[in-house]
Amino acid sequence: MELSNNTILITGGSSGFGLEFAARLIDLGNTVIITGRDQAKLEKTKKQLPSVHIFQSDVSDPKAIVELRDMITSRFPNLNILINNAGQMRKIILHDVTIAVSDITREVETNLMGPIRMVQAFLPHLKKMESAAILNVTSGLALVPFPIAPIYGATKSGLRSYTKSLRVQMKNTKIKVFELVAPAAETPLNGQFTSLEGYSVKLMKAEDVIDAAIKGLKNDTYEIYPGIARLLRMMSRVAPGFIFKQLSKAGAREME
Ligand SMILES: NC(=O)c1ccc[n+]([C@@H]2O[C@H](COP(=O)([O-])OP(=O)(O)OC[C@H]3O[C@@H](n4cnc5c(N)ncnc54)[C@H](OP(=O)(O)O)[C@@H]3O)[C@@H](O)[C@H]2O)c1
Repeated sequence: MELSNNTILITGGSSGFGLEFAARLIDLGNTVIITGRDQAKLEKTKKQLPSVHIFQSDVSDPKAIVELRDMITSRFPNLNILINNAGQMRKIILHDVTIAVSDITREVETNLMGPIRMVQAFLPHLKKMESAAILNVTSGLALVPFPIAPIYGATKSGLRSYTKSLRVQMKNTKIKVFELVAPAAETPLNGQFTSLEGYSVKLMKAEDVIDAAIKGLKNDTYEIYPGIARLLRMMSRVAPGFIFKQLSKAGAREME
């Protein structure tokens, strides 16, 4: 698809992939709007990228999504691309009885229900556009579980499944549906994992992941597998047991 002169909403644009996406898409001549929960982080991003538009909004809050939709579609009627990027990944030891039942599903609210609700809220608007797209950021961990982050993998597998169905249901519309199957990369999200005993994943640079994503969007590659994500896809088909065993080594002792 054409990647200039679009109006693009990126959830979670104040760090990592979202920030990289925002910078690249502004350089390509697009109007870019980002969201996040932390206003200070959003303002810091605004200093870095003066033309970016910032809105505090929590993607795990259904009411906030409707308010965001109403505000954005009235202030930016040309909005035609939605990037569902906001996400969280937690190390969770399921033996830990101090984890509240109400807290265990936090990532489901943000990583899975958030994008589904965002799509539902923005779909009627996107359908009216001459050219439109939705990009959902999943993960290599949608292909193989990572036991030390058990809820995260479940959310990304779920989002991948939903994205495939969404693409089929949108086939007679002008909305193109993309999935960025992101590999492990150097962003704040990974901080708590790299020091784990048994963690041997090589991290990609966030800008290289986003380079591949931009190329994929331009070429209408609906499933984008940057770097090691492609290898993970192949390995998850030819040797699923082997790759799962490798990922199970991270934090193995803590999980016993
Ligand atoms: N980094 C990796 O290795 C990797 C690999 C595969 C997939 N991914 C996926 O890539 C996406 C971006 O991750 P990242 O690595 O760039 O992480 P990051 O650097 O931690 O950035 C996450 C962004 O999402 C925002 N955010 C978090 N929860 C939110 C919520 N409930 N509502 C709105 N915004 C929220 C954060 O801002 P606030 O904290 O201010 O809300 C921040 O701007 C995620 O979906 C992640 O699962 C990452």
